[in-house]
Amino acid sequence: MGEKKKIFSGIQPTNTPHLGNYFTMVNWIKLQEEYDCTYSIVDLHSITVRQDPIKLRAQIKESYALLIAMGLDPEKSTLFVQGHNPNHAELSWILSCYTQFGELSRMTQFKDKSQKHPDNINAGLFTYPILMAADILLYQADLVPVGQDQMQHIELARNIVQRFNGVYGDVFTMPEGYLTKSTAKIMSLQEPTKKMSKSDENPNASVWILDDRDTIIRKFKRAVTDSETEVCAREGKDGIINLMSIYSAASGKSFEEIEAEFKGKGYGDFKLAAGEAVADMLTPMQEEFKRISADKAYLEDCMKKGAEKAYRTTRKTLQKVQKKLGFVVL
Ligand code: TRP
Repeated sequence: MGEKKKIFSGIQPTNTPHLGNYFTMVNWIKLQEEYDCTYSIVDLHSITVRQDPIKLRAQIKESYALLIAMGLDPEKSTLFVQGHNPNHAELSWILSCYTQFGELSRMTQFKDKSQKHPDNINAGLFTYPILMAADILLYQADLVPVGQDQMQHIELARNIVQRFNGVYGDVFTMPEGYLTKSTAKIMSLQEPTKKMSKSDENPNASVWILDDRDTIIRKFKRAVTDSETEVCAREGKDGIINLMSIYSAASGKSFEEIEAEFKGKGYGDFKLAAGEAVADMLTPMQEEFKRISADKAYLEDCMKKGAEKAYRTTRKTLQKVQKKLGFVVL
C-alpha cells in the first residue's frame, strides 16, 4: 500500500462504447492489479457540446455500470462521477489562472471541435484541457492512460505542473501519458481503412458492446471484405485483416491459427465465426451489466462511496494548493 503508482483516467459518458473502446477499456481495467487506479465518468467535460439531459443521465449511469461489468472492482479502484466531486471545478478555476490563452489556442481538439460546432464555440470548449489537468493533478497521478488524440492535453497538464511547481515548490506530481499497447486496432466494418467510431452514421459500421447476439452476427455477415476468397493478412485485404484482428482479440487465436482454421473455407464461415466469438466474449459482460443496472440501490451506493473517496483524496491536494496561493484555509 502507498507504494503503488497512481493512475487516473476519464471516460466521457457519451454514446455506448464500441468494440474498439471495449478492448481499450478492458486494458485500462486490468491496470487495477498493479496500480492504484481512479477512473472518472466525466460529465462536466461532456457538456462542452450540447447533450440531451435525459440521455446524458442514462449514459452516466450506463457508463458507470459498464465499467463494473467489465471487471472494474469499485473496492480496489476508485470509480466516481466527476460532477459528484466539486474539487474538480474548483482546482480547474485555479489552474486557469496558470494557463495561457495562447497555449489553449493551439489545442487541435479545440480547433476541430469548434469547426464541428461553429454555432457553439463556448468557453468550456476552450478551457476543457484545464479541467482535464485538474482531474489528473488532484489525484497526483503518475500515469494517465489515454488515446493518442489526448496526448496534447497531457502535454498541457505537464506544462501547468512545471509552471506551478516552479513558483510554489513540489505541489503536483508530474503526470505521464500512458499509451496502452493497442491489442488490436479496430476499424469500421463498412470502411476498413477508417477507425471504428462512436459517431459513425452507418448502423453496420460499428459494433456496440451492448448489441445483442443476432445484431452482432448480422453486422459481421455484412462486413465489407474483398472479391477474393482467402482468409489471410495480405496487403490490400483491409476488411479481412480487420476481421482477423477482431477474431484474434476475441478468441485469443493467432493470425496463423486463423488462416489454418479457414483454409479452403469461404468468407461466410469466417465472418460467422468472428461474429460468434465477439458475441461469446461480450455475453458475460452484458449479463453482468443487466444485473448491475437493475440493482439501483447498489449502483447509487457505489457512486456515493466513489464520490466520497474521490473527495477525500483530492481535498488534501486542493488545500495544499490553497495554502500555497495564500488563501485563508479554515
Ligand atoms: N478528454 C478525455 C477524452 O475525451 C477524457 C478525460 C477527461 C480524461 N479528463 C481526463 C482522460 C483526465 C484522462 C485524464 O477521452
